[in-house]
This record gives sequence, C-alpha cells and structure tokens, in this order.
Amino acid sequence: MQRYGLDIWSEDDFKIVGSKLHINYKSSPSIFEIVKKIRDDGNRGPILLRFPHLIKKQIDLLYESFKSSAKELNYKGDFKAVFPLKVNQFPNFINRLLSLSKEYNYGLEAGSKAELLLAIYKINQNSPILVNGFKDRELIKLAFLSAKIGQDITLTIEGIHELESIIELSKSAKGAIPKIGIRIKLHSSGVGIWAKSVGANSKFGLTSTELIEAIDMMKKHSLIEHLKMIHFHIGSQIDSIAPLKKAIKEAGNIYSDLKKMGATNLDTINLGGGLAVEYSQSKRSINYSLREYSNDVLFMLQTIAKNKNVDEPNIILESGRFVSASHAILVVPVFELFSQEYNIDLLRLKSKNPPLIDELYELYRDINKKSAREFLNDSFDHLNSIFTLFDLGYVDLIDRSNAEILTFLIMKKAVYFLKDGDLAHLYGIKDHIQEKYLMNFSLFQSMADFWGLKQHFPIMPLSKLDEKPTHSANLWDITCDSDGEVSFNEDEPLYLHHVDLKNEEYFIGIFKLGAYQEVLGMRHNLFAHPSEATIIIDNKGYKIENFQESLSLIDILSELNYDSAKLKSKFNDLIKNNKDLDSDKKDKFRSLFEVLINENSYLKTID
Ligand SMILES: Cc1ncc(COP(=O)(O)O)c(C=O)c1O
Repeated sequence: MQRYGLDIWSEDDFKIVGSKLHINYKSSPSIFEIVKKIRDDGNRGPILLRFPHLIKKQIDLLYESFKSSAKELNYKGDFKAVFPLKVNQFPNFINRLLSLSKEYNYGLEAGSKAELLLAIYKINQNSPILVNGFKDRELIKLAFLSAKIGQDITLTIEGIHELESIIELSKSAKGAIPKIGIRIKLHSSGVGIWAKSVGANSKFGLTSTELIEAIDMMKKHSLIEHLKMIHFHIGSQIDSIAPLKKAIKEAGNIYSDLKKMGATNLDTINLGGGLAVEYSQSKRSINYSLREYSNDVLFMLQTIAKNKNVDEPNIILESGRFVSASHAILVVPVFELFSQEYNIDLLRLKSKNPPLIDELYELYRDINKKSAREFLNDSFDHLNSIFTLFDLGYVDLIDRSNAEILTFLIMKKAVYFLKDGDLAHLYGIKDHIQEKYLMNFSLFQSMADFWGLKQHFPIMPLSKLDEKPTHSANLWDITCDSDGEVSFNEDEPLYLHHVDLKNEEYFIGIFKLGAYQEVLGMRHNLFAHPSEATIIIDNKGYKIENFQESLSLIDILSELNYDSAKLKSKFNDLIKNNKDLDSDKKDKFRSLFEVLINENSYLKTID
C-alpha cells in the first residue's frame, strides 16, 4: 500500500488505520472524520486545521534536547528560545503557542514595529522579547517603553546608526532601558534556498571593524554593561549541520574576544533559527537530528569558552519553522476530475485509415495480460508518430483523434491486465497520462513557497488508503492562473485514487503549512485565507474550537477599501430602476444578492 512517505516526513504525528489517516495522539481521531464534522455544519471549501498538541510537542522537543545535551556535557550556560513572529502571527496560533509554553518562559522575536507591538501585547510575564531587523527612532522608542513597563526586551542592532539612536534615547531615559544585542556579519556562508542571511554581502549585521567601533561607542557612553548578546542567523531550513558548525566557531570566537575587550556583561549567543523540517515524501533531506544539533552547539561553544578562558555562554534559539510547521494542515476537497475518459463509440474510423491507425486498432483488439506492457509501449510510439505526421500535414484531425482514443483505450486495458502486478509497473504506465484533480483552494493563498520557491510540501489523500492509488496526479487549484498547479513531479510523484465524486467525497491533506505560508499567502484572484479550526484531542475524543470562516466576498472588497455600502446601494438602485422586473422579483433578487455576497470566495460543492 502507498504510505505517501509518512515514515520519512510525519515524525509519527499521523498513522494509517484501515482506509483513513489518523492523528497519532491520544484518542487518535481520523482527519476525515473531523473534516466531515466541520462540513456537516454547512462549511465548504478548504479548511485549515490547527493541532495545538503538535506545537507543544515541538517546543518540548527543543527544550528537552538542549537540557539533555547540557546535562551530558555539564554545560553551564542557560538555554532559552523565542518564537520569531514573522513565521506565523495568526492569533489562533500565537495564543496557543504562548499558553502551551509558559513553563519554559518561551519568548517572542519581532522584526518590525507591528510585530513588536504584538510581542508587547502577547508576551508572557518574565519571557524575553528580542527585536531584530532595521529600526528607526520610533521603533527604538517603543522598545524603551517596553523596558519601562518591566518587560525583558533586547534590541539587536543591525548597523551603527541604530546604536547612535539608542545612545541618544538612553541619555534622556530614566530607569530601565532595553538590553543591547549585536548582529554579527559572519564570513561563513549560509545554506539552502534561504541562505542569504550571512556572508560579507549579507543585508544584516556588523563587520568586525564595526563591532570594535560599536564597543568603543558603548564604552564611551556608559552603555557597555547593557551589551548582553551577539546574534547570527545562517538561513532557514538548514539541511546540513556543517555550515552551522562553521558559523558557531566564528561566533564563539567573536563572543570571547568581545568579552575580553570589556563587554563584561555579554553572556549570550543567539543562534537565530534554521532548524529544518522534513518536507520530503521520497527521501530524507536533513543530515542531522535535533539531539546532534544541540550536542554540537554546546560542545563547540564549551570548547571555545575553555580555550579562551571565558564563561560558557547562554544560548538563545529563534527557531520558527521547526516549532510551527507541523501544527497546520490544509484539508482540500477535490471538486472535479478532469479525465480524458474516451470510449470506443467516439472512434471515427474511415474506410481507409493511415496504416498506423489500423495497427493501433489491432493492438487494442489483441492486447492481453502477457502482451500488455509491450503493446502499450508500441501504442505510445504510434501516437507520437501520428503527432509528427499531423504536424507535417500527412494525417488529419480525425486520424489524430482516433490515435488518441485508441491509445487511451489500450492504456486502460493494460492497467486492467497489470493491476495485480507491482505498483512501480503500473505507475510507469500511468505517468504518461495524468489525471487532473481540481482542488478547491488557492495555491497562492495557502502554499506560497511552492509557487515562489518550488518548496515541496507533503501531500496525501485522507481516505482510500487501503486501495491502490492508480492515477498519476496533477493538482489544479481554482485560481485563474496556470501557475496554480502542483504538476506531476517524478522526484516527488503523487498517485491518487479514482473517485466517483457524485457519490463520495475525497479530501487531500497538504501538510506542514504552519510556518510562513499563512502570512505569505496572497489574495491572488481575491481568494482569502481559508476557513480554519483548532482541534483539541484528548483521551476520549476531540473538540473543535475557534472555527473561523474565510472572509465573505463583501468583506474582501471592503478590505481593499471599496465602499461596501455604495456597492450594495448601486445593485439595489439597478434593481429598483429595472422596468422588466415586478416587485416580487425585485425582492427576491435583493435577498439573493445579500446571501451571495456574504458567502466566502471558495467554490461550493454541487450538492
Ligand atoms: C533572524 C531570524 N531569526 C529566526 C528566523 C527563523 O528561521 P526558521 O524559521 O528557519 O527557524 C529567521 C528567518 O529567516 C530570521 O531571519
């Protein structure tokens, strides 16, 4: 049976029971059953399901791993972590994240003014706020206010001019001021498709010359005791540990030298984010485990600290993808199948056909279990020859259509004869003709990194998992854009089932969408964020909480600053002034309009 690479990517979060995919936690409900329940309440279209237990699992793993490594190595520094808000700022995620992580004093990282405001609002008491990214005086003032109200906030400077503003504001500040961090520009190179965060030409951080200048400035203005942290980030989705090790060596030595230069309160290295998530369904793509990561980090920093005779630094991690990706699954209903379903009645054979057509007909007539593979390959060759002859003008459209129909019918018979053989055999055939599944979602809205970066996300059906999936699948979204397609990819092949959508529902799950995708999602074609629900699972069953429907049509336009009152009154005026409609019809159309504009943007299943 097809397992869709579950053993590679799912980290035991899911399991197949019978024909369905289940959540592998406590009462283990099937995702299909959860979705049916939400749909029974009249909801249609794609649904984003959030599973808070998967957020908790990742946070526990992170802290436990560093705790165990520290114990094993007798490492003296502390371990802290913050969630980088850029990865997911949605309230139904952030609220759960913060309530589930209180015991750890898990903090937040902000990279803009709005994110800082969110951090100030949401941070748990005694948990740290880190501020990265470019800053103006207003942002720095906001950070000073946060320090004044007693929050543990660190401003990480990205350039000397930011330090100048901090110095200036600290002169007039009475009482607490923010801690200071410095982002260092590493010469080590980054890794992966998000690797541009380091290197001499990277956007961020201070060079060694600027670092020395910054230390001098802080000493001169009596701010040096506030310098607590240095920071680097070598890129997201680090699939190999080697570049991280290199960066740690560099950062560890910078840390030690800055301490020797008088930064006596400097006690923390912030390693940024980057812990990778396994997205592949075909082969492992990450060459380290979390435990290896924490062991390597602590061991290397311990060695450097010993050699340079400084205290072992505290560690802060800003892992976002690792913490949030797995908690969100998009469940997408298949809306329609676009098959090239031909039958024999469609053939328009002539009294005299081109010889290749006659041969195709014989292949179709004589194919059997033994000859299936050979005849099928012959039919593909014949079809290609007919295409060439058509382009040269030697056969006509009717011949071409006959060749397409016959090849399809041969393929269908071959699949029947070979269905008891191994799947690889069958797939070799089906890859030639792919089934198109029209999926009720927007790829631009829900998996932006697939569109922008060809990032693969695990995809699998939620039912029929006890049946052989025989169709090589092309997934089409419902936007009017040819990029809105997950086309069949031989490196990550997706095979789906034959479904009779008139009589059964077929849902596809797209997994690990909890990091970056929601906020990167675009309203291309004006498809809004999908409806969402939070699923709380316990030993007895599960609860559906925080159901939030996707924006209505009228609200989508209002958010673009169209005047919804004017829109409605224009429609009503047009109805009022229409002389062909009687008053009953006018009332009927007005109420129908009101209903339709309050629906969301996704398609409703025809039922
Ligand atoms: C400075 C910084 N910290 C943390 C992160 C989060 O990285 P990730 O989600 O890969 O853990 C990023 C993202 O690129 C970042 O730029």
